Amino acid sequence: MIATRRNFIKLSATAGAAVSLGLSPRRLFAAATNQPAKSLNILILGGTGFTGPYQVRYALSRGHKVTVFNRGKTHPGELPKEVEQLIGDRDGQLDALRNRKWDVAVDNPTTLPAWVRDAAQVLKGNVERYVFISTISVYADTSKGVDENGALAKYDGPDAYKETLEAMRASGYKTYGPLKALSEQEAEKAFPGRTLIIRPGLIVGPHDETERFTYWPVRIDRGGEVLAPGDPKDPVQFIDARDLAEWTIRMVEDSEIGTYNATGPAKPLGISGMLDGIKNAQNSKAKFTWVPADFLQQQKVEAWSDMPVWTGDESGMARTNISRALGKGLTFRPLAETASDTLSWFKSRPPERQMKLKAGLTSEREAEVLAAWHQRKA
Ligand SMILES: NC(=O)c1ccc[n+]([C@@H]2O[C@H](COP(=O)([O-])OP(=O)(O)OC[C@H]3O[C@@H](n4cnc5c(N)ncnc54)[C@H](OP(=O)(O)O)[C@@H]3O)[C@@H](O)[C@H]2O)c1
Repeated sequence: MIATRRNFIKLSATAGAAVSLGLSPRRLFAAATNQPAKSLNILILGGTGFTGPYQVRYALSRGHKVTVFNRGKTHPGELPKEVEQLIGDRDGQLDALRNRKWDVAVDNPTTLPAWVRDAAQVLKGNVERYVFISTISVYADTSKGVDENGALAKYDGPDAYKETLEAMRASGYKTYGPLKALSEQEAEKAFPGRTLIIRPGLIVGPHDETERFTYWPVRIDRGGEVLAPGDPKDPVQFIDARDLAEWTIRMVEDSEIGTYNATGPAKPLGISGMLDGIKNAQNSKAKFTWVPADFLQQQKVEAWSDMPVWTGDESGMARTNISRALGKGLTFRPLAETASDTLSWFKSRPPERQMKLKAGLTSEREAEVLAAWHQRKA
């Protein structure tokens, strides 16, 4: 750190609090400069999809050394030059990970317990801590908001790689949550007392290939009459991929272990708060028409896929308790920033990709449902 008078004052001011909190000089320095106490050697399993690149860039900006492990298929050639890329496959080709040491491994892409088991076999003894990126879909009961102690969904099928993959595809991904829960347990088994489990809710923002949240900034930008689902007070939760990635790296820096739900915002938000927030960010003249859930159901308009982010009946999914993560410094950028950046990213995509969103209603279908709703009211 450059020894300026301002830094000196900042350090002195922090010293009192640091002593009373029992912080080491290294931690004191970190607190005063807002930089990590130590440069870490971080292995990111994955790292080139959606959240991974944000983790990579943030970790580099904080002075860490980053290695990624993947097949080299997703976004090839886009890694910063400082990053070491190891090529392999979680399905049996892990040789590139052998005989190497890291402070911590962050496991992004795993859905299958066999992936954690196999990676742990190779990494055990060579990695201090293991971070497993899970999901809030691990909970058995999504009808009410849960904290991290909520009962987990059970999976009792075969758990070898090929069988689980086939079972997951055959179930229409219904076993995604239960298999993630089992994968969490594999991580904790392989690295007892040294595992950090992060359970994100819907991850949104620029580069989200699922385009769920993206539907709303894009639709509102188009303007006109916008179909808005359910009751304006219906809760919504989501987290900007950048907030999630940056907090994950800060948790890694602080050697945190344990289990944390990670979604947002910090205070409860209704779907109307979200839609108005996006509209205001874009200075849009769009006009929302609120259509109740039962009418949408009659029209076969589905929550989550046709009306993204909105959870319909399963509102418990949008009431997940995040107080534990808030207590560990999870922060959120403004909704306006997420919405504007997501829209700019979408508009920078090739024209053919902008023709049709992967989530939400087509404009024709939305117009049909709105017309049916107006007729019913008349
Ligand atoms: N999206 C959401 O709303 C949401 C919500 C809750 C939880 N989550 C969880 O959050 C995590 C987010 O993952 P992400 O996609 O953002 O992570 P990411 O690390 O950015 O991307 C996934 C990485 O996995 C690699 N990969 C895929 N298959 C592989 C294989 N067979 N062997 C080796 N590497 C492989 C990909 O590279 P290659 O293709 O080149 O191998 C890519 O680098 C996931 O665990 C997901 O379940 C997501």
